[in-house]
Amino acid sequence: MAASQLSTDHILGIKDLTEEDIQLIFHTADEFKEVINRPIKKVPSLRDVTVANLFFENSTRTRISFELAEKRLSADIVNFSASSSSVKKGETLLDTVNNILSMKVDMIVIRHSAPGAPHFLSRHIDANIVNAGDGTHEHPTQALLDAYSMRERLGDLAGRKVAIFGDILHSRVALSNIFCLKKLGAEVTVCGPPTLIPKYIHELGIGVSFDLRKTLEWCDVANILRIQLERQDIKYFPSLREYAQFYGINRQLLDSLNSEVVIMHPGPINRGVEVTSDVADSRQSIILQQVENGVAIRMAVLFLLAARRA
Ligand code: CP
Repeated sequence: MAASQLSTDHILGIKDLTEEDIQLIFHTADEFKEVINRPIKKVPSLRDVTVANLFFENSTRTRISFELAEKRLSADIVNFSASSSSVKKGETLLDTVNNILSMKVDMIVIRHSAPGAPHFLSRHIDANIVNAGDGTHEHPTQALLDAYSMRERLGDLAGRKVAIFGDILHSRVALSNIFCLKKLGAEVTVCGPPTLIPKYIHELGIGVSFDLRKTLEWCDVANILRIQLERQDIKYFPSLREYAQFYGINRQLLDSLNSEVVIMHPGPINRGVEVTSDVADSRQSIILQQVENGVAIRMAVLFLLAARRA
């Protein structure tokens, strides 16, 4: 049974959300998904609310998805990108945000390379904060749209088996997915080369595997993660070619399994490395449905946070 409002003023991480919060977000997203499939895709729910999208790190999907969600809800929007801002002149994160807030901004969506940046801000400012990815820590709205997309394909996730493949060590998507799926009663296993699996991961109550084929045989869903070369300051495997050979998911491998697995990827994809194009673009893949659902999930999150302001 879904609650009628969120238990929190911010979406900093899935770790802080209750199962009721997640179900409420899904239920609200169901309604917004219906709205964005109408000829007129807009509702006045966030009229008079101003949202600042602060992207200190690159993004395609998350930035556009939040912006579209805000526009569909009739919010006023300001977009900030660190590369063209006074951050380049040495301004601190808190000074930047306080200056933006003094222009009467109600909500902040922030992506930052520093784990904990949104949590730090939440202790110093009044606005609602949504974490759009903080370094290698969490990416809560990605996990929500991932679980929502799995639920859309498979129904209730309790007892479902989800495997997360690849660069778990550098992935904020992995950690948020693990917290979200566990709260929804799914079984989770991570699979990748030992160097890309964090040592603490056992403490999260999930399985760990280094065997790609066995894990694919086990799971209902394969959520395949990108190798995050930009966060790797040392070599974790000999070459991308070798990674693709041992941990890349290709058509031949999928066709040799006993049952069909749902294929997911948060994007951006390194085609031919963690997954081949004939898998990513196949009918087993729900990668573009994930992107579509992202707008409804983000509309739900913003709407529910705004409801707490009322
Ligand atoms: N999934 C995701 O966060 O993609 P972007 O980096 O393009 O936002």
